[in-house]
Amino acid sequence: MVNNKETSMVASLLAVMAVVLSFLSTAQAAAKVPTVIVVGAGMSGLSAAKTLSDAGIKNILILEATDRIGGRIHKTNFAGLSVEMGANWVEGVGGSEMNPIWEMVNKIKLKTFFSDYDNVSANTYKQVGGLYAESVAQHQLDSLDDVVEFSENLSTLLTAKKQEDISVLTAQRLKNRVPSTPLEMAIDYYNYDYEFAEPPRVTSLQNTAPLPTFANFGEDLYFVGDSRGYESVVHYVAKQFLTTNKAGQITDPRLLLNKAVVQITHSPSGVIVKTEDGSVYRAEYVMLSPSIGVLQSTLIDFKPDLPPWKILAMYQFDMAVYTKIFLKFPYKFWPTGNGTEFFLYAHEKRGYYTIWQVIFCVIKCFFYIFIVTVSCY
Ligand SMILES: *[C@@H]1O[C@H](CO)[C@@H](O)[C@H](O)[C@H]1NC(C)=O
Ligand SMILES: *[C@@H]1O[C@H](CO)[C@@H](O)[C@H](O)[C@H]1NC(C)=O
Ligand SMILES: *[C@@H]1O[C@H](CO)[C@@H](O)[C@H](O)[C@H]1NC(C)=O
Repeated sequence: MVNNKETSMVASLLAVMAVVLSFLSTAQAAAKVPTVIVVGAGMSGLSAAKTLSDAGIKNILILEATDRIGGRIHKTNFAGLSVEMGANWVEGVGGSEMNPIWEMVNKIKLKTFFSDYDNVSANTYKQVGGLYAESVAQHQLDSLDDVVEFSENLSTLLTAKKQEDISVLTAQRLKNRVPSTPLEMAIDYYNYDYEFAEPPRVTSLQNTAPLPTFANFGEDLYFVGDSRGYESVVHYVAKQFLTTNKAGQITDPRLLLNKAVVQITHSPSGVIVKTEDGSVYRAEYVMLSPSIGVLQSTLIDFKPDLPPWKILAMYQFDMAVYTKIFLKFPYKFWPTGNGTEFFLYAHEKRGYYTIWQVIFCVIKCFFYIFIVTVSCY
């Protein structure tokens, strides 16, 4: 049996030899550089590719299934305005650590708006019409804050004792909280589903309490409202390592669009990646960055099957459904001004159109656009 020390000495010797060889012949050395295929040109795929590029691995091929980069960060046109279909906020601003997304947003001067949720207690509507008394709604918000603090303490304790994870709902029950009135359910939905796109019953306590995004980067949230779209952050990442033309469009041959991967054959000697259009690409490595929903489907045929530990990891997380409904009204029938951006609606059915946000008051308020957020599980 070779001992570890010996193995690492052999490894470092090989590394030195590789360096020497690269001085002898650049062509030969180039062949030694690993080739990597990256599947998916969303934020994570492009960031992974950039990390490889920064580390000197330039022999990359990015295969993207759609006709654009950005993945679920994607804008569209609604009523003549640019709106975000996917990611919309920079979450976690104002803390001790700088959120890297916030840094990029500021660098490209993307227009954002501070999301002020402080006044939702004064803007919570009953199913029968009319507002709840502010103190009544505020009391519910405060008592939920207690549960959140209790949950964070419990989560820390479970982690310290190396105990099994529980759901957020279990933590609520331990604190005797059972949201049952329309107001309690609306506030529960606002606090959890609005953030996680899933109900507390399936949300992991240990991974969400406290939520690293806010614990590390700060409590503030900024809503992106820029006609260039939130996707310009993804373009910013891409343009740091992919070549562009004078107009700023990405022309790098290492990025291929409309390439839906359908099969990956892998062995210790490398990978063969097939796309829907019949193309075949070979590399030493493949990095997968499609959505978790794609990974959990049979859209990509792995030959042989992935090892159980990878499959287990893939199924530890779910693809959630977070639907944004954009509504345009010709006139306002709600209060406007400071502290009236967010409205809650408390229906007897939990999650029944709970969260309303005014996003645009266009051209002297000629018309108004709302987003209603719905998450289904
Ligand atoms: C959580 O822990 C902190 C610090 O130990 C303590 O002061 C606080 O009372 C706890 N909160 C709850 C709701 O258990
Ligand atoms: C709204 O709030 C901002 C900042 O708090 C303040 O500067 C502004 O005067 C307020 N506008 C109105 C109409 O009250
Ligand atoms: C809070 O909302 C109420 C009801 O829409 C509004 O009248 C009030 O001005 C807002 N208060 C603050 C501080 O923004």
